[in-house]
Amino acid sequence: MTGAREDDPRLGEIVVGADEIRRRVVELGAEITRDYADRTPLLVGILKGAFVFMADLARSIDRPVEVDFMAVSSYGSSTRTSGVVRILKDLDVDLGGRDVILIEDIADSGLTLRYLRRSLMARQPASVEICCLLVREGVPDLQDLVRYQGFPVPPGWVVGYGLDVGERYRHLDDIVAYKTHEDAGSGSVAG
Ligand code: PRP
Repeated sequence: MTGAREDDPRLGEIVVGADEIRRRVVELGAEITRDYADRTPLLVGILKGAFVFMADLARSIDRPVEVDFMAVSSYGSSTRTSGVVRILKDLDVDLGGRDVILIEDIADSGLTLRYLRRSLMARQPASVEICCLLVREGVPDLQDLVRYQGFPVPPGWVVGYGLDVGERYRHLDDIVAYKTHEDAGSGSVAG
């Protein structure tokens, strides 16, 4: 594993390795390049988890793109979102007529993305699509929600490539399993 892994017994096996991530990000970039051939998409990264993925994805798109960021905080426990999202940092740009692609590290329940899509749609963009590196397996309707998907992930906490636990491990190159006390089947995720 690369990325200055710390000696933490809770860090487990690699779930998606750096090489695999790199290849998939290039593929996603090519798909977006094709789909937005005559448009300049606005990539909206959701902080903090999306920052690594967004940086790599933006450089894999062979089109003019613009970038902006939002920071949100979900009400709920530290490991489960409730679907009620507070916007901590809003966009700098006006979305009127823009082709927006929301960039996320993970869709776990999908509640954050659903809320954000609704909220951005109200600002009269031309379109809003969602691109997510990880999509939780077995969650109803996530497949329809997320237009561009990196990898399915089984239940369990994962860290790395932007995803954290308690703000740690975002810098790992691989996506790695992380054992928590909630591990016995909660299906929630760190990030
Ligand atoms: C994670 C992730 C998504 C959300 C996914 O963010 O980045 O925003 O949870 O969960 P959901 O699909 O169940 O709504 P987190 O709150 O951990 O913040 P972070 O991106 O700053 O790590």
